[in-house]
Amino acid sequence: MRQSINRATHTPSGQASKPLYPPAPRPQKAPLGPFTMLRLLRRNPIETWTEAHFQLPILIGPTILGQVAVLNDPAAIRRVFVDNASNYHKDRLQKRILGPGLGQSVLIAEDADWRLQRRILAPLFTPKTVATFAKATQECASEMVARWQRLPEESPLDIHQEMTKITLEILGRTLFADGLDRRPEEVTAAMTRYFETIGSLDPFDLLDLPNWLPRWNQWRAKSALDFLGDTVSALISRRKRLLARGVPNLQRDLLTLLLEAEDPETGVGLTETEVQANIVAFIGAGHETTANALTWSLYLLSLSEEWRARLAAEADRVLDMPVESQAEHLIETRAVIEEAMRLYPPVASLSREALDYDDLAGRRIRKGTVVMVSQWVLHRHRLLWEDPDRFDPTRFLPGQREKIDRFAYLPFGAGPRVCIGAGFAMQEATLVLAQILRAVRLETKKGFKAEPVQHITLRPRGGMPMILHHRLQRHGKIRH
Ligand code: HEM
Repeated sequence: MRQSINRATHTPSGQASKPLYPPAPRPQKAPLGPFTMLRLLRRNPIETWTEAHFQLPILIGPTILGQVAVLNDPAAIRRVFVDNASNYHKDRLQKRILGPGLGQSVLIAEDADWRLQRRILAPLFTPKTVATFAKATQECASEMVARWQRLPEESPLDIHQEMTKITLEILGRTLFADGLDRRPEEVTAAMTRYFETIGSLDPFDLLDLPNWLPRWNQWRAKSALDFLGDTVSALISRRKRLLARGVPNLQRDLLTLLLEAEDPETGVGLTETEVQANIVAFIGAGHETTANALTWSLYLLSLSEEWRARLAAEADRVLDMPVESQAEHLIETRAVIEEAMRLYPPVASLSREALDYDDLAGRRIRKGTVVMVSQWVLHRHRLLWEDPDRFDPTRFLPGQREKIDRFAYLPFGAGPRVCIGAGFAMQEATLVLAQILRAVRLETKKGFKAEPVQHITLRPRGGMPMILHHRLQRHGKIRH
């Protein structure tokens, strides 16, 4: 159902603000030929969508990826991800791209293997456990902001780099109780290299050529994966030594859970390869995504004086409360993050392969069809959103939020394989954003236009250069 909202918005001085349409590639007028398609899939997959995709509930047809159905019908999406989820597996292309590093992890595993891993990991992500991560999150954010406050007024900052760094630090202090050991910059660099390499899709994968043919991308990604593998091996060995010595008060973090896990039915634990793959999966899935959500939120705020002022005022009100209850009071901050993830979804497409035929949105789906839901398209679909390309966080304020169809907005996916870290990510993003807005104002250079590019996650091409202005002086006084 199309969302209808009263959109009167105002600047802090009370004037009506101009509607804001942040940058996005223009949809193609007509379907692309195979060569242009191949080139754009490698360069930036979000540039391949046509006007019809943004207007129709379903489009099915042969493509260079085989038979593909692109779904934008909430009821049909619900069928694929919930009601008939057992008929859909992760598709060949996804498995091929992510397989070498993550094949044995919860991200890619299927059926019984997946269920076991998900069950093992669940205790780390209950709302109660996630709430205990608030303090470490806040500490990391205050340290980052304090570092910025030591910089001169108008210092340049690459906000994408900064957000990638802080989200990794937060992961290191929450899911990995004794840290990530190596210098976080090195881990971030390896992760970025890995995603950038595998994210610019390999032509051999796109053409579905056999696995034994060597892939240029896999070869380039190898050094990053080797580095991450070594880092994780070192973490595992250190932790095994501590567990063997029976060190008291060892926090039950991700590593302990994975190492001590046992299937309740068979008593079998995870293999070392599975433990490793899951650690790499969590480092990957758990920081780049949240970093992008924060980066795009800060970009949109740099374009909207009204929302920047509203969020700064909210941060001033809420950040003196006990840290565990701050996130639930950061209501407008959360609305901005949700709107940023609508316009710039960190995970910009989901795909599945039909194991058997199905009927979706009135069309027959053949066995083997790849069913795609692109959040980039879905979140800007003409049938589902009013004024879809406009930045308007009021859509997500209480009273309006409930009107959004659960299956029209999927930043974290849906169904049994919904993002396990969604609560963790939202708490983290709201706390970090509020700390930033209380202390500083970030502006982009005049004339700068961000370019979203989908390389596994949706990131700004070339980073997000911004200019720092101090709002809160170090002794806590607000500048006006
Ligand atoms: C804004 C931040 C995040 C976004 C937008 C995001 C998005 C997603 C999406 C869309 C999926 C579903 C993929 C599919 O169905 O094919 C997913 C799965 C997953 N996410 Fe996240 N994620 C975020 C943060 C996190 C964090 C912080 C963690 C862990 C600390 C995490 C761990 C995972 C894992 C392990 C899965 C696989 C779940 C399964 O298959 O059972 N994510 N994420």
